[in-house]
Amino acid sequence: MARLRTRHIALCAIIVLGIFFFLPREYASSYRPHFSYGTSHRTGTFALARYMNDRSHSPAIAAKNSSFDWSSVRFTHPPPLEPTLPPPVARRPRIQYHFEPDHANIAAIQERRRLEVKRVFQKSWASYRAKAWMKDALKPISGEYVDQFSGWAATLVDSLDTLWMMGMRDEFYEAVEAVATIDFGKSTAATVNTFETCIRYLGGLIAAYDLSGHAVLLQKAVEVGDLLYAGFNTENGMPVDFIHFETAKEGTGLQVESQVVSASPGTITLEFSRLSQLTGNSKYYAAVSQVMDLFYQNQNATRLPGMWPMTVSMSKKDVVFGYQFTIGGNADSLYEYLPKAHALLGSADASSVKYEIMSRFFMDTAMESLFFRPMIPGNEDILISGNCDVLQDGAHLDPESEHLSCFIGGLFALGGRLFSNDEYLDVGAKLARGCAYAYKSFPTGIMPERYNMVICPGENHRQGCSWNETAFAAEAANRPEYKEELPKGFTTAKDPRYILRPEAIESIFILWRITGDASYRETAWEMFQAVAKATDTKYANAAIMDVNAAGGGAKEDYMESFWMAETLKYFYLCFADTDLISLDDFVLNTEAHPFRLSKI
Ligand SMILES: *[C@@H]1O[C@H](CO)[C@@H](O)[C@H](O)[C@H]1NC(C)=O
Ligand SMILES: *[C@@H]1O[C@H](CO)[C@@H](O)[C@H](O)[C@H]1NC(C)=O
Ligand SMILES: *[C@@H]1O[C@H](CO)[C@@H](O)[C@H](O)[C@H]1NC(C)=O
Repeated sequence: MARLRTRHIALCAIIVLGIFFFLPREYASSYRPHFSYGTSHRTGTFALARYMNDRSHSPAIAAKNSSFDWSSVRFTHPPPLEPTLPPPVARRPRIQYHFEPDHANIAAIQERRRLEVKRVFQKSWASYRAKAWMKDALKPISGEYVDQFSGWAATLVDSLDTLWMMGMRDEFYEAVEAVATIDFGKSTAATVNTFETCIRYLGGLIAAYDLSGHAVLLQKAVEVGDLLYAGFNTENGMPVDFIHFETAKEGTGLQVESQVVSASPGTITLEFSRLSQLTGNSKYYAAVSQVMDLFYQNQNATRLPGMWPMTVSMSKKDVVFGYQFTIGGNADSLYEYLPKAHALLGSADASSVKYEIMSRFFMDTAMESLFFRPMIPGNEDILISGNCDVLQDGAHLDPESEHLSCFIGGLFALGGRLFSNDEYLDVGAKLARGCAYAYKSFPTGIMPERYNMVICPGENHRQGCSWNETAFAAEAANRPEYKEELPKGFTTAKDPRYILRPEAIESIFILWRITGDASYRETAWEMFQAVAKATDTKYANAAIMDVNAAGGGAKEDYMESFWMAETLKYFYLCFADTDLISLDDFVLNTEAHPFRLSKI
């Protein structure tokens, strides 16, 4: 290992030096803005857009084949090769607001903020590079590392597109050089997690390819895609949740699990569809289309028609038996991928139109049954997404929410634009502001991982109410986890940690790009300062144990790869040029990896 690593660094050094020598100065150094605070923003826009799209200095890097060729697996149960990819989308509705250039003084403020986010990213990246290179994750307090995603350099692959967006071109190509050597024929664990491999590795590689056009990235994406495709080698054509690595190579077939969380089989559509678009091979699209047909056919047959339970059985092809419904953890990206699949694929043929139909149905159900207006001291008009249990005596809305649910505001806003529905957009804005409200309520300026509030009384959950101390005290008394030192309006902080999650800033970013309302950018800056301050460590940033304690309490020696892949990327994009990753050109997967929307 040590020798390989040394050699690797030497090789990288040569390549980096080569790039430095070969490229004009502006590309060789990390990105510096092409305009100073005094010049107009329009100049900056032009220079930035030109720089971001420039692929002409891409160095020649050859991929090393993995030790096992996943395209050579001989399937006992080959998945069907139909339907084929739908035709390219002819017309899409406009998603982003028509931005005018900022005044010079405003532009200067945003530019300082953008550079501050980049500075925080650079610190994390430099430590990963120095202490955990090619490992899955850096431990940000001890400077050690951990391999929890098969040992294929999860943080490195997950960070590729952020490096590109931040204009860190030499670091980007150094990382591409490393990607070229990843061996997807070996895994540090006997089983491979389908979901995580799909969103972090496959998603990361596809996005880095869509931005840079570097062939190595597509080659490696196909290797991971074929590895995941081997997970569909099952009797009923449904994918396994965990791929038994060595069994999968044999091709004899895998056993589908009897119970999985619904997000697992539901979060493959974007990656597989984009891989089919990029390779011209419909097999990935066809395989995942079968899975989504199962959800489609049963959407109206569950206990809460329009949504699916948190747990499903893929071995029995039963997606209706459960009674717990949420758009939070365990189910989240199943819903996220429906409007996004529509954005990527359109609705022109029989196999793609289901994404639009499922989107509208679930959004209407979620508005009706999951979202509520909380009773809070200032009576702000916000919405929170809760959980719904459907028992014999009907549906029960539990006003418990979590950080993971915070993506839903952005998704509703996106749905509002995609489906020309102002109610979705309005509800999306209130949901995004709900999470921002939770952030600013706690002393660290960050919301907890999981918490409870109080539903405004009345028939309609989205109806408002005035603060009522007696009613709040009665609800709080019913919660064993209630503590008096909680901010008013919150009856618990059941899990008071913040583990560097992105969902709240994700929604703020999307609302900013869709509405052009500058208050979202101010919210983003407040959130960024709070997060950067509370999570800072010697090497990078760490999860904190208590958002309700001064300074965030103790820290945990862990930094998820989504910190650099998602959280810092979304913060950065709030202050960067609005043409950078325009929502009219890209759709982002659930790990914030942008996939290019192909156009005719
Ligand atoms: C690498 O794999 C590809 C695809 O299986 C194959 O066509 C190619 O010949 C391999 N290259 C080497 C050097 O083995
Ligand atoms: C769902 O089923 C009910 C009752 O059969 C029907 O009235 C309704 O139109 C269906 N909704 C959708 C969206 O298919
Ligand atoms: C406040 O809540 C209590 C308990 O639910 C209720 O009895 C009272 O009428 C409410 N007060 C107002 C002003 O609505």
